[in-house]
Amino acid sequence: MCDRWAGFQWHAMEKQSNKFEVILPLASMAEESRHIHIRADGEAIALFRHAGELFALGNRCVHRGGSIGDGEVKERTVTCPMHEWIFSLDDGRCIDNPEMGLRRYPVTVEDGIIKVNIENAQ
Ligand code: FES
Repeated sequence: MCDRWAGFQWHAMEKQSNKFEVILPLASMAEESRHIHIRADGEAIALFRHAGELFALGNRCVHRGGSIGDGEVKERTVTCPMHEWIFSLDDGRCIDNPEMGLRRYPVTVEDGIIKVNIENAQ
């Protein structure tokens, strides 16, 4: 994980049910921020706060495994840092190749805690 994540305050990541996984307090995600959450099973989720909304995508690029969470975010898209494929934050689809895409996880905020629905990834 690169240094820019170091400023985030980590909280205990607990699995509350089979459906939702607690990621971190909403207050830890300032405007235009990001976070990579490594799940217990080794999967990684890239969480973005962009334009006042939260988006959770699979962190592993479908091309050659680049870290999506390290990509440039703009205009509701994220660009993979390895070969610059661009993905929609809204649905995870690759802009230039829409039949390919990243997993997208529904995100909710309850009592100031960000939760990601890990069972209903699309
Ligand atoms: S690994 Fe993401 S574009 Fe190649």
